[in-house]
Amino acid sequence: MDIEVAAGSPEGATIVVAVADPPEPLPAAAVGLADLLASHDVSSDRGTARLVRLGDRRVVATGLGPRAELEPDAIRDAAAAALRVLGDTVGGDAAWLLDESLPLPVAEQIRAAIEGAVLGSYDPGAWKTSGSRRRPIPRLTVVGSSANAPDAERAAVVAAWTNRSRDLSNAPANELTPASFADRAAELADRFDTVTCEVLEPDEMERRGMGALLGVGMGSHNPPRLIALRHEPREAARPELVLGLVGKGITFDTGGVALKPATYMEEMRGDMSGGAAVVAATGAIAELGLPVRTLTVVAAAENVMGGGSFRPGDVLTASNGKTIEITNTDAEGRLVLADALVYARDQGATHIVDLATLTGAMSRALGDLYAGVFANDDDWRAEVVAAGEASGDHAWPWPMHPRYRRFIESDFADLKNHSIRSQGIPVYAAEFLRVFAGEGPWAHIDIAGPAFLTWSRGDYLWQRGGTGYGVRLLTELASRLASR
Ligand code: BES
Ligand code: MN
Ligand code: ZN
Repeated sequence: MDIEVAAGSPEGATIVVAVADPPEPLPAAAVGLADLLASHDVSSDRGTARLVRLGDRRVVATGLGPRAELEPDAIRDAAAAALRVLGDTVGGDAAWLLDESLPLPVAEQIRAAIEGAVLGSYDPGAWKTSGSRRRPIPRLTVVGSSANAPDAERAAVVAAWTNRSRDLSNAPANELTPASFADRAAELADRFDTVTCEVLEPDEMERRGMGALLGVGMGSHNPPRLIALRHEPREAARPELVLGLVGKGITFDTGGVALKPATYMEEMRGDMSGGAAVVAATGAIAELGLPVRTLTVVAAAENVMGGGSFRPGDVLTASNGKTIEITNTDAEGRLVLADALVYARDQGATHIVDLATLTGAMSRALGDLYAGVFANDDDWRAEVVAAGEASGDHAWPWPMHPRYRRFIESDFADLKNHSIRSQGIPVYAAEFLRVFAGEGPWAHIDIAGPAFLTWSRGDYLWQRGGTGYGVRLLTELASRLASR
């Protein structure tokens, strides 16, 4: 879908009018439509949409809910609903009318409308041989006298990379192996002058002592990869700052020897969604030319049961020399992240954010909307949470405290990877990661809830599977770092 801005709606495009409660005033560009809309019983209920004919024009009226409570997600929902109705019926170009009377800055309306349209039009059925039944919408024009092309361009770039992240998350594990994940990252680097890609294979991991990543990955016929992308802008706004983006890249998580139940296990192809998000965010940062030095590290491995698998009771040595007693092979994410965090710090990352589908307990706690954020630095956590909230990737702060360390103290090694007590699971997982995060600000985002949907969320991210969570948050964070 091409995205454009214009002062008036193009000939032939279906006009999309977002109606709040109360509906008046309508957007300037919709003057004359008011009576006609009223005669069609259009609803202002949030997320509803209806296609009507007004003379020789088609109009989709979509609901925003209460005007006084308007938030960006209401615009996202409305845009997604409108384009869904259009795609289900006649298809063709669409024109979204901006509304300066709404209590939301126009720049935010533009961003939300484009994200809602692009993310809401995502087709997860890439593996269907029959193609999509939906009618194409080749172009979306954002219409208003104050419509700003750079705002729209930026939102379009970020939304497109978010959908690429979803493609990676949804890709089956027989297609997206650690090696092919690395190939996708290398292809991304080829597209941008500022980006380079480096891939470590098992022999190199061995030399660097990455025993935790190797321990998880070597049970599979698809051996692990450590993927590093570097974005080095020609002129960095803060040359001393290197943003480290670290992602959990488990291409499939069976639980290993501690085998998971079969029901919904297919969803564990999405256990690389943190890795997908950091790679796709790097694409967005590069395409937008953000002047922030970025080092992206993905620990890619497949956690399966096989003759070479690690087992409960094994002791693995991570690349910072710490020994880890394995008490549960299903707590594999923190193991691969351990070596990835050490590598990111080693390679010069000054400010780190990691994203991981780390604990089922986080998804039970916060559900499918919010991710939980942990950090070793209050300011850094606040910046990450603020970037999330501003971007539509909802994030909520969680506590860390050294007292949780007792959950991962081992009688045999420096620490263990899992506690038999089912208390505070997301928190002690974060305490585990802290040991490997080194000096300097680090934040951990547990995205187990919002990254990959078992059931539709019923909003603009209505598709099951990957949501691309984190691409918008990280791009927002990078642009804030560049401008402060
Ligand atoms: N990938 C899972 C976490 C997960 C579960 C993400 C469900 C998304 C949906 C992770 O590797 C895992 O298995 N975690 C265990 C941790 C436990 C053994 C401490 C879990 O959540 O049960
Ligand atoms: Mn697991
Ligand atoms: Zn996992």
